[in-house]
Amino acid sequence: MAPVSLWVRCRVAIKEPCPANNGSSGAWTNIRGLRCGGLLSHAEGIQGVRALSMIRRLDHIAIAVPDIEAAIARFVEDLGIELAGREDVPTESTTTAFFPIEGTQIELIHPMEGAGPVQGFLDKRGGGLHHLCFETDDIETDMKRLQEKGYRFLSEAPKPGAHGTRVAFIHPKSAGGVLIELAEHPKE
Ligand code: CO
Repeated sequence: MAPVSLWVRCRVAIKEPCPANNGSSGAWTNIRGLRCGGLLSHAEGIQGVRALSMIRRLDHIAIAVPDIEAAIARFVEDLGIELAGREDVPTESTTTAFFPIEGTQIELIHPMEGAGPVQGFLDKRGGGLHHLCFETDDIETDMKRLQEKGYRFLSEAPKPGAHGTRVAFIHPKSAGGVLIELAEHPKE
């Protein structure tokens, strides 16, 4: 029996009866989509690829800060959370600092050179919660799926994000006032 962490829900089987599981929904496939219900059949090929596309976890919560050095000091010295690193994301004119905590991270974001979307946010609101980011295995498929449901994205295609990710943002007007980022991490 494979470790539980290697198994994910078979997305295909939710929509279509799974022949390897007596036609019931909720069959299982491994992350490569090669098995379903313990048999090598249903999820192989195209369906295996489709099974990879899904939102997996809360990747990070981003907070826009007017003074990144003061905000880092607050997290490190007052809250006692370890700073894991800093990274500039030139495509978003943003500099970032990361604080991993229990399977996700807090990401402080600050405008580079006083410009870009984070500067706009600071000008309007003076800082605060900026966006939630969910990790996806297949950003194009998730974008397409959500666009078909009427969600509006801030870009037509994924853009480079921090940590070698490719990211896309759902417009807050499509998502109850919350800016939502989808991020696909580089495959090993
Ligand atoms: Co983000």
